[in-house]
Amino acid sequence: MTSDAARDIEASLSTLAERVRESFRTAKTEPELRAANAVVLGKKGELTAVLKRLGEAPAAERRAIGERVNGVKKDVERAFEERLAELHRAVRDADLNRAPFDLSLPGRRPAPRGHLHPLTLVKNEVLDIFQSLGFVVAGGPEVELEANNFTKLGFPPDHPATDMQDSFWVTVRGGVPDARVLLRTHTSNVQSREMTRRKPPMAVVSGGTVYRRDDEDASHSPMFHQIEGFLVDEKVSFADLRGVLTAFAERLYGRKVAVRFRPSYFPFVEPGAELDVECVFCTDQTKTGCRVCKSTRFIEVLGAGMIHPQVFEACGIDPERYTGFAFGVGVERLALIRYGIPDIRMLFENDPRFLGQF
Ligand code: DAH
Repeated sequence: MTSDAARDIEASLSTLAERVRESFRTAKTEPELRAANAVVLGKKGELTAVLKRLGEAPAAERRAIGERVNGVKKDVERAFEERLAELHRAVRDADLNRAPFDLSLPGRRPAPRGHLHPLTLVKNEVLDIFQSLGFVVAGGPEVELEANNFTKLGFPPDHPATDMQDSFWVTVRGGVPDARVLLRTHTSNVQSREMTRRKPPMAVVSGGTVYRRDDEDASHSPMFHQIEGFLVDEKVSFADLRGVLTAFAERLYGRKVAVRFRPSYFPFVEPGAELDVECVFCTDQTKTGCRVCKSTRFIEVLGAGMIHPQVFEACGIDPERYTGFAFGVGVERLALIRYGIPDIRMLFENDPRFLGQF
């Protein structure tokens, strides 16, 4: 006669081994297998619970039941080890069957590194030079009021002088009535804005994009770049303008260079001038026949002059007390000179074979 306890234990054990083997088989990874094992052999495991009940069996049967339980425990342990070995083998086989690592494959090239556009390089260089001379850098909008682009600068509405700068007019829905708006034709709009905003003394430079209805050719583009500069204080003279622009040209070229001023007309300066700088493409051998300066030995670089009293008045500065000078430089022209580029269009084609050379 076996006891109740012995019968209970036997009932638990009879199906245990098979259930455990099944749960080990369905474990697909080592952590899954270890979790399944803990369900049986862990502290709160099923077999552990059975072992704990061994004490309830009558002493005479204990030995036999103990052997039976230990047998099942050994079975479970063996099944665990076998499945573990199987899983390890599967991992290793998968590793071995993976596509082989090809050491002869060429490496991936790092993406080529970009850099600033030559126009930006030249613009920054010019702004740096003027900053080192004590000018501050200001910004200005490309979509501008007619007043700031023309009227305050001495171009009356529909004045023939505006023909020098054929404009892109902009229709602004719901804009200020009668306020005409255009894409700025020059960076001189920054003069109107900053002279209205600041009190003298002031020395300001500003670089940016400007637009004119020019047809495109080797030296014209409907979109181009300028740098504007101006200085206002008491007793500023043309000698100051000449000194500052000569210093600028020499820092840009990195050596002493010949400069000359030619009289010219701009509505917002009086007198107005154009600054020519010695041609860098003329070597002694090519004194004649230089394509760039057409053998004049000078290249036109910028427009400049003494700020017109009417501009001061329009901006709220007392022309009896203050004088000042202004200048405007074409960035493309400087870049062409600086890098010996024959055609302005090359600057806008974005050909990496060209841009990669800077
Ligand atoms: N704004 C002129 C232009 O685009 C360039 C210029 C000339 C600017 C003389 C100036 C200046 O400040 O004084 O043609």
